[in-house]
Amino acid sequence: MRLDKFLADMNFGTRREVKGYIKKGLVTVNDQIIKSDKFHVNEYEDRVLFDGEPVHYQKNFYYLLHKPGGVISATVDNYDETVLDLFEDQDFRDDLFPVGRLDKDTEGLLLIMNDGQLAHRLLSPKKHVDKEYYAQVAGIVTAEDQAAFKAGLTIDGDEVCLPAQLIIDAVDEENQTSEIRLILHEGKFHQVKRMVQAVGKEVTYLKRLRMGPIVLGEQLALGEYRPLTPEELALLQN
Ligand code: URA
Repeated sequence: MRLDKFLADMNFGTRREVKGYIKKGLVTVNDQIIKSDKFHVNEYEDRVLFDGEPVHYQKNFYYLLHKPGGVISATVDNYDETVLDLFEDQDFRDDLFPVGRLDKDTEGLLLIMNDGQLAHRLLSPKKHVDKEYYAQVAGIVTAEDQAAFKAGLTIDGDEVCLPAQLIIDAVDEENQTSEIRLILHEGKFHQVKRMVQAVGKEVTYLKRLRMGPIVLGEQLALGEYRPLTPEELALLQN
């Protein structure tokens, strides 16, 4: 790999900026100052220092974001803030993208990565990665609803959903509201909201708690993100 690409990939600047740094003599490879940006390095074996600091090559980046409401699950948008706008400059890369989508008003776990192959596998209908949601609902969710979700609900007349697990966490008879968790094995457009609508109720708040083995947990505030741990990544890759 060319030295300028290596450094640009590691977020030291644009290709043009890092060419300037190389020309200035800020970069050494195996203890030699290299002033040619065309110089090739072995990204895994050569010892590259930038201004005296070692640079370790990393090809893929994986993050867990606690998505807040009001931002869209896209990389760029002319009107709305996107989930990538939440990234700090030092972590932002233009090859990062969200794995699937959450609605603009939905909060919770969203994976952000630059590994197209893994993302494709996670979203593949064949892989059936399950997703767990927490929802507040206007209306009383019942045992009949649970049975209907388990049997496989038909939404909007002709779309048949795979069997889903509906857990009723709380029911407030006085205010006619419920709190539920829903475990889905597929990802249809607006699926949770449409399934709840199909049994005559309405989602008023929605949050994704889990995607496959990756759990949102309590550590991240809304809008915060963190890299996946090596253990989490290994679980996702299996
Ligand atoms: N189901 C929905 O209705 N919305 C989401 O954002 C995710 C699942």
